[in-house]
Amino acid sequence: MTSVVIPVKPFDLVIFGATGDLAMRKLLPALFRRHAVAQIPEDARIIGLSLSNHSNEKYRSLAREALVKHISEEELEGHLDSFIERIHYMPNDVTNPEGWTELVETLNEKPDRIRVYYLAVGPSLFGVIAHGLAAAGLSGGGARLVVEKPLGHDLKSAQQLNADIGEVFDEHCIYRIDHYLGKETVQNLMAMRFANALFEPIWNAQAIDHVQITAAESLGVGTRGGYYDHSGAMRDMVQNHLMQLLCLIAMEPPHDFNADAVRDEKLKVLRALRPLKGHTALRNTVRGQYLGTETAPSYTDEVKNPDSTTECYVAIKAEVENWRWAGVPFYLRTGKKLRSQATEIAIVFKKPPHSVFGELSTPVTPNVLSIRLQPDEGLQLELMTKDPGPGGFRLRSTPLDVTFAKDQAKGWRMPDAYERLLMDVVRGDQTLFMRGDEVEAAWSWIDPIMESWDDSGLKPETYDAGSEGPTAAVEMMARAGRRWRKI
Ligand code: BG6
Repeated sequence: MTSVVIPVKPFDLVIFGATGDLAMRKLLPALFRRHAVAQIPEDARIIGLSLSNHSNEKYRSLAREALVKHISEEELEGHLDSFIERIHYMPNDVTNPEGWTELVETLNEKPDRIRVYYLAVGPSLFGVIAHGLAAAGLSGGGARLVVEKPLGHDLKSAQQLNADIGEVFDEHCIYRIDHYLGKETVQNLMAMRFANALFEPIWNAQAIDHVQITAAESLGVGTRGGYYDHSGAMRDMVQNHLMQLLCLIAMEPPHDFNADAVRDEKLKVLRALRPLKGHTALRNTVRGQYLGTETAPSYTDEVKNPDSTTECYVAIKAEVENWRWAGVPFYLRTGKKLRSQATEIAIVFKKPPHSVFGELSTPVTPNVLSIRLQPDEGLQLELMTKDPGPGGFRLRSTPLDVTFAKDQAKGWRMPDAYERLLMDVVRGDQTLFMRGDEVEAAWSWIDPIMESWDDSGLKPETYDAGSEGPTAAVEMMARAGRRWRKI
């Protein structure tokens, strides 16, 4: 497989929080890879800012270390020095109005190019930086602002955050990243739905029994306990990543693959979600925390909070109340320290209405279209086929397999989501970014669920580390005569 590289126009990308984990682990490696394939023009600059009082040389050496850590020697060869040359660092305290002079001077050396401000900092600084940029005269000319979750802690704070940055930047200049939308397989989901006539006639309640969206992780919360215990799986994964996947499955075909057409359709899905409150919320959701073993810490040990009621596992039965999906549950599930690392969307179709093979045969299992985001990215359609050979008429489920991993084996590398998303910001394409009203609509659905959990006074269920999650989640499925797919 060959990749087509379309160079972008010259740009200055300013990273606030340039010494942080996101910048070092994700942003610089993604930019390096786009540099290595010559997508980034020669004179594009990466300008790093943070509180640390590093010299330019010191920051460049830190960036070099990070790249050596995250990218293979083979990939770095021949490109590392030229990439490092692009990087310019300046210490900056964004809360000090005097502190912007060096940035202003540097950017004004090249006044006519695309400007991108990436806020790789905590959300409490989003408004401060947006207003600081405005005061320094740097927010105009179509400059783009990139922000990433947490985009609020609830609806109210999300509205406040949207209002703060919206005072300075127009919506068409704000890029809210959900890195799941940059994943190759997620884009493939849209290709599959909207570039094939095959699926549309069966993409509805007549043919589909239910949908399962799973993001299972095998690792615990590790060193992120401080952040995580304040957030939990619902805010960390469901409100953004899982709900975005639900939208892409459930939305109507947009009239065009442009940002507002796609986002209008996603918004309609979010607004059609059946509200879950009080008893209904408790019955249709399960929260969990993993237990420890003799050798491994429990969730509450890891976050150093024995009384924590924060969930690191969530399962939800959601319903989209419209003509297409009436009666089709969307089961969402995510958790830490589960049996394996697997992110998958499974569309489970209805069984044939009548089995013509009767007792002669093995039972018919429903067709499942599974879209695997990771690992082994690909699509699989499980079909019933005849077991080959004479004697009897046995059926078996056989996968029709489109595994992208095969392309990787031939030397093709699955791009990281940030590679795509960063270049989309420079290109000015917001299709794979969340609009402010989408984020707020997602919180409007999430908030009552979390309030119901709080009001109930109940604690999360527990589950064994390395298991498939709490038994209550299995029971929630079993009540409807269904079962989770194996993690
Ligand atoms: C992040 C969450 O947004 O997504 C993490 O904060 C989670 O808790 C991660 O581990 C999962 O992303 P991916 O791309 O590994 O599925």
